[in-house]
Amino acid sequence: MANERKTSASSNSASSNSASSNGPLPDGMPESLDGVVDQVFAALSTSRENFAPQLLLREVGTVTSVLTGIATVDGLPNVGYEELLKFPGNVFGIAFNIDESEIGVILLGDYWHLKAGDRVERTGRVMDVAVGDYLLGRVIDPLGRALDDKEIEHTSERMPIERPAAAIMDRSPVTVPLQTGLKVIDALIPIGRGQRELILGDRQTGKSTIAIDTIISQRGQNVVCIYCAIGQRASTVGRNIAIMREKGAMDYTVVVVTEGDAPPGLAYIAPYAATSIAEYFMNAGRDVLIVYDDLTQHARSYRELSLLLRRPPGREAFPGDIFYIHSRLLERATRMCPEFGGGSLTALPIIETEAQDIAAYIPTNLISITDGQIYLSPTLFELGMLPAIDVGKSVSRVGGKAQLPAYRAVASDLKLAYAQFEELETFARFGASLDASTRKIIEHGQRIRSCLKQPEFSPLSVAEQIIVLLALIAGLFDAIAIARMTEAQKIVQESAAKIPADVIDRLLHAKNLSTEDRAAIVQIARQALADFKS
Ligand SMILES: Nc1ncnc2c1ncn2[C@@H]1O[C@H](COP(=O)(O)OP(=O)(O)O)[C@@H](O)[C@H]1O
Ligand SMILES: [Mg+2]
Repeated sequence: MANERKTSASSNSASSNSASSNGPLPDGMPESLDGVVDQVFAALSTSRENFAPQLLLREVGTVTSVLTGIATVDGLPNVGYEELLKFPGNVFGIAFNIDESEIGVILLGDYWHLKAGDRVERTGRVMDVAVGDYLLGRVIDPLGRALDDKEIEHTSERMPIERPAAAIMDRSPVTVPLQTGLKVIDALIPIGRGQRELILGDRQTGKSTIAIDTIISQRGQNVVCIYCAIGQRASTVGRNIAIMREKGAMDYTVVVVTEGDAPPGLAYIAPYAATSIAEYFMNAGRDVLIVYDDLTQHARSYRELSLLLRRPPGREAFPGDIFYIHSRLLERATRMCPEFGGGSLTALPIIETEAQDIAAYIPTNLISITDGQIYLSPTLFELGMLPAIDVGKSVSRVGGKAQLPAYRAVASDLKLAYAQFEELETFARFGASLDASTRKIIEHGQRIRSCLKQPEFSPLSVAEQIIVLLALIAGLFDAIAIARMTEAQKIVQESAAKIPADVIDRLLHAKNLSTEDRAAIVQIARQALADFKS
């Protein structure tokens, strides 16, 4: 078109030129008016012949209604399940309910400006997320937009947010421990790299704190961490990020956040997007830890969307496929075979229970999907037994195989002594007169309980944990008054600095804890306590 116009314009000016001047005609100028017309038509027809229209097929539908976080769309007969659709104002949505007559779409952004009659376009692709090393240290939303103060420049590498989990034959058994830095977990409920361990408990029992502690503890362990906050208060998330930053944990961490007031669609896709980012690192052969804080909020967003899409509600009004929603997410956690880089993805999903009801629908689902659970008790929390982990209700099904041998040497003694103590403690509370051996079990148990306490955001190294645990099992603390236990424990913990480097190396890498090493460590603790007592 542009060409045509130019030709006709120039011939116009040429003809007006020839009319106004009587001088000789310039070269190539036709003699007569007929000649001019012929030339113009010739030019027109060549440019018409050269013009090849490029057809860009765009399917366009129309919005028929907009609800909270949901739109229904008419048209788009060829749309695929979970295809990304584009709405006006750069809002995207996922085609979620495809009926013969209409499509139910989950909206992924601010939708207040959308109205019935708006145009909707297909994109021909599914929802994906930008991935890369440059995300480390950043706080983003599930669409990859920066939520911290700096701009983010995405590279071209993207991964779909929903990916099939690794095939069984591509997976390896869990053999390497993921140290949480919390004595009670590393000794009694050990977690391995590639495992899925549920953290559950009522609100305000210290669930998020355990997860943040675990992330802080990965410093220098060559583990990439992803913290995915779903539907939490912005102030809580801000506090957690500030702590991770202060402890230097943001260097190896990506934070993916949807706030409480975000459209439910964003909360729904958040854990999937975060998992794809995690898989990017796992596929590069790295060990990755992902925390979903929490999946109760995720399940609620999904219930909200499903009810709006008029899917039939089931137990506790959750739609029938809620189990599948979480299982296909957690199935992606695994350890890969060496042929596939040997990376791993450890998942710590968090669930909030109501009134300690761990038999509710979502908790039972997740307990059955994961490889174990850490249960936090509000009663222990009130007693100041922090972290408030109820050892009796907590279990780790695969972590034991990955546990360091030094822990294994103390774990069974510790578990038995602690279980005996908890049983006897109930009787002791009734003021029964106790014989000497019972009193001894109770007093030892009280010291175990004291040693398993740990303040928040201060994870311990393996050596620090082992020296305290070995001293405990050897009965070194039994002579210390309960009131002075915290202090005594601190002294022993600090004396870990005196353990020779070769012994520490064997703690981390040897197949067994040798009798000599054990004796050497206990001796260091005994020395430290002797100075303390005197
Ligand atoms: N080990 C601990 N020592 C001291 N305070 C703790 C400990 N664990 C948790 N807390 C405190 O308990 C409160 C609730 O913890 P949080 O992790 O936010 O609970 P939840 O995620 O279960 O709601 C927070 O104020 C936190 O500082
Ligand atoms: Mg929390």
